[in-house]
Formats: sequence, structure tokens, C-alpha cells
Amino acid sequence: MEERTPVLEMRDIVKVYSDGTRALNGVTIKVYKGEIFGLLGENGAGKTTLMKILFGMLKPTAGKIFFQGSEVHFKSPADAIARGIGMVHQHFTLVEVFTALENIILGKEGHGLFSKIDVKNAKKKLQTLMDELNFQVPLDVPVENLPVGIQQRIEILKMLYRNVDVLILDEPTAVLTPIEVKELFDVLRKLKAQGKTIIFISHKLNEVMEITDRVTVIRKGKVIGTVNTSEATPQLLARMMVGRDVVLRIQKKPHKPGKTVFRVEDLWVKGDRGEDAVRGLSFEVKAGEIFGIAGVEGNGQSELIEAIAGLRDVEKGRVYLMGKDITGKKPRELYDMGMAHIPEDRTHMGLILEMSVMENAILGMHWRREFSNGWRLIDWGKVEGHAKELIDEFEIVAPGTRRPVKSLSGGNQQKLIVAREVSKRPEFIIAAQPTRGVDVASTEYIRNYLVKLRDEDKAVLLISADLDEVLQLSDRMAIMYEGQFMGVVKPDEVTEEQIGLMMGGVSQ
Ligand SMILES: Nc1ncnc2c1ncn2[C@@H]1O[C@H](COP(=O)(O)OP(=O)(O)O)[C@@H](O)[C@H]1O
Ligand SMILES: [Mg+2]
Repeated sequence: MEERTPVLEMRDIVKVYSDGTRALNGVTIKVYKGEIFGLLGENGAGKTTLMKILFGMLKPTAGKIFFQGSEVHFKSPADAIARGIGMVHQHFTLVEVFTALENIILGKEGHGLFSKIDVKNAKKKLQTLMDELNFQVPLDVPVENLPVGIQQRIEILKMLYRNVDVLILDEPTAVLTPIEVKELFDVLRKLKAQGKTIIFISHKLNEVMEITDRVTVIRKGKVIGTVNTSEATPQLLARMMVGRDVVLRIQKKPHKPGKTVFRVEDLWVKGDRGEDAVRGLSFEVKAGEIFGIAGVEGNGQSELIEAIAGLRDVEKGRVYLMGKDITGKKPRELYDMGMAHIPEDRTHMGLILEMSVMENAILGMHWRREFSNGWRLIDWGKVEGHAKELIDEFEIVAPGTRRPVKSLSGGNQQKLIVAREVSKRPEFIIAAQPTRGVDVASTEYIRNYLVKLRDEDKAVLLISADLDEVLQLSDRMAIMYEGQFMGVVKPDEVTEEQIGLMMGGVSQ
């Protein structure tokens, strides 16, 4: 049989970021003209990095790119677009105060000052394009007034207006409603019929099964395999996506959970765009139990945490802490009632980087009696003593309690947050992405500390995009997808395939 020649090949691509992260470790993909090529992989697999390299946004550490028969070296997205490769990002890059039309022709027709003729022609050309595809956007409305699904269409049209042959879509359905997904897929099929090549990035198994012709699965910067979609099953893809390496196990002995400490009942929470980010969740966390929530990021985890930590409105449903209804209570009240929160974004919510280590060590509890003198003023001597205790107990490497917290390494900053939150002596701890971006030694320390809290009969809610972490630490775990749990399982009673299916949106 004759070997087809790919229109695009990325060969042996390696990417090491400046901080030493090896995001891609020799990845080769081949894409054929006129196909919808799927790139599947869980969080952090390297999908976006690979596509940014293709689109000229990042320089590969090693490897080659061949396009339409010759090797290419794109120095910028403009370079890539000029050669016929366009990309629509997970986070849009439109100018908010400009109209759709302005955004689309910006940088293409002239240099900002458009003559009347240009605009008229551009509009006509665009209208034809939209009619052909049955893919309409209002051209004269400022982008900021348009819903996100329409903004994505504008990004796509912007690339098509530049006549790209290859269109890269990075997790395009993450921001779309089911109807918008269907409409997008219709357009992708039309583009394919016109001979365009689509690279479709996703972690959603049913979408990959529905829209792609072939799929390459990557995991931790390596290609696991490539299959024809018609010969694949969600089960096969799930196994390829999450197959686990042998990981160092954390010391964790069996521990019998006690009474229910925390409970959520039919919780609904809206996201920033007004969508239902959390859709009717119910679960409980017991004393002496780590309840983990896994799943690809952006499936409502952040909104869930914010709602139960008093940082976001609850639309519907109730939250209980030790039998008391705490729905809608403020963070400070929650802390006083026995909740602690290790937030996912430590530099925005967890710490004030310009402030000293000791000030950060009492953040959120400075009103407590133990830190005040008789005059309701903060007693800095007591605060410093407290900070020193935390530094000792948690083995935090800090140049001094009075130095700004930004002088600590990421791992030590995170340990300081954990130390502070735990020193509130909570009964219930929310640990959100507790080891993200943290060095190995601190990661091990923090993970073992969470297990220690559980052994001391605290209730721990762990939310992490790191599946290994959830598998290692949890007594029970749920997999979250589009605001719901696809299943609640025990880590040692579940197969990789089952987890992969749940992460990809197939309920168990
Ligand atoms: N700018 C960066 N600096 C350092 N590491 C990064 C950077 N961007 C991504 N990474 C890391 O590279 C890996 C791959 O990330 P990414 O390509 O975004 O994966 P995916 O899109 O599949 O979720 C991850 O470990 C991520 O943390
Ligand atoms: Mg990505």
C-alpha cells in the first residue's frame, strides 16, 4: 500500500522550559491533509506546549517541523499564519473594545487605519465566509459585549480570513454549551470538506470519538500511540490517556473514618460567565478521611471550592460543617467554625507577597486573641513567636521572619500556607492543588502532612488536577466532569480504564 505523505510533521520535539520543566520528550506527530486530527491527553501532558511550538510561539529545545514538504522555522505566530497555520487558544486574544470586524481584519488589512474601501471589501468577504459555513457573528458589536461562544467564532473566522490551511483548536469545547459544540462540529466538518486540516485538542473522549479521524494520545510529554478513530473505543483511549507509571507511594495505613464532618447537598454554583459550573453535587467528608476530587481542570472544581469556602455565591443547595448549615457564610466565620483552606492560587489568595513572613503567618487569623495584647492591638512579639514555631515545625527554609514572603521559594511559600492553615486547628481542611509547582521534597512533606491530619481524625477535602496525587492520598475519590461527579470510588478498587472514562466524561 502506498504511504501517504503527511502535510505536517513534527519530529522528535523536545521542550524544556527555562525552569527545567521537561514538557515534551521527543514527540512526533503526523497530520494528513483534509483530516481532523485529535490530540488527546490529560492535564499537563504537553498538548498546548506542542501546539505553541507549531504556531511559532515557543521555540523547541530540539526537533524539527516539516510543512508542505519542507522544513519550517516559525519565529512568530505571524510567520506561521503567513505559511497557512492558524491557532485558536484556550484563552482568547481579542481586543475587547474593538468590534468583531475590527478584530478580524486587525493586522491583516493595512495598519490600523482602514480606508472605507478596505472595510467594505473585508466585510463582504467575511459575510461570504460566514454564509458558506453558516457560522454567523455580529460584525459591528464590541467583542466585550459578546458571549464567549461567539468570541470563539470570531477567533476562528479571524484565522480563516487569513486563509490558513491548518487550523489548531486548543480545547475549543471547554467554553461552549452543548448546542454550540454541535454548531462548531458542523463547521469543522464543512472545513474538512473544503480540504482544510484541523488539529483538535481535547480530553473529552466522546468528542474525540465523534469528530476526529485519527487520534494521537500523549502523556507526560511522550506519545503513547496513534489510532484511527473508527478503530478506537472510549475504553482504549481512556487507558492510553491515563495509564499510570509506578509511583512512589506515600506512607498511608488504613484508618477508620468517624462521623461526618462536612456535607454538601445538591449544590449548584455558577461560574464567571453565568454558566452552571457545579451542577447538583452531593457528598460528605468524614473525620479521619481524605476525600479526593480528581478531573481535568476547568470542570467546576474551582467554583466548588470557592463556594464552600465562602468566596462565591451558592445558587442552590446547602453546605454543612459539623451539622451546622454554613451556606453563604463568610470566610472569616467559616474559619472560626473550624474550616481551613489551602487555596489553589497561592500568590493571589494564599499569601501577600510583599508582606513579611510573620505577617503572612497569621493572615486570616490576626483578629484572634492569641495575637493581641490587652488593647485589641496586634502583639508583634507573639506573632513572631508563632511564625518561628511554624518555621521550625514545618522545616520552612526562610531567611527570617521579617523578610517579605516573596523571598521564599515556591515550595517554602506553600509550606507556610499549609502551616498557617493547620495552625488554625481546623476540623475540616480544603486542600486545593496543594503541591502544584512545588519541589519534590516539599511535595512529599505536604502529602505526608495531609495523611497525618487524616490520621488525627481531621476531615480533608483534596482537589487536585494531579491524578497520581488523588490516587495516592484519597480514601475515597470522585471524578468531576462538567460540574458533576462521574463516579465516587476507592482508589484501590478502580482500574485505569474506569478512571480514564470518567475523566473523559463517561459516567460509571
Ligand atoms: N511557561 C511554562 N514554564 C514552565 N513549565 C510550563 C510552562 N507552561 C507549561 N508548563 C508545564 O509543561 C507541562 C505541559 O503543559 P501543557 O503543554 O500546558 O499541557 P496540556 O496543554 O496538555 O495540559 C506541564 O507540566 C506544565 O506545568
Ligand atoms: Mg493545554
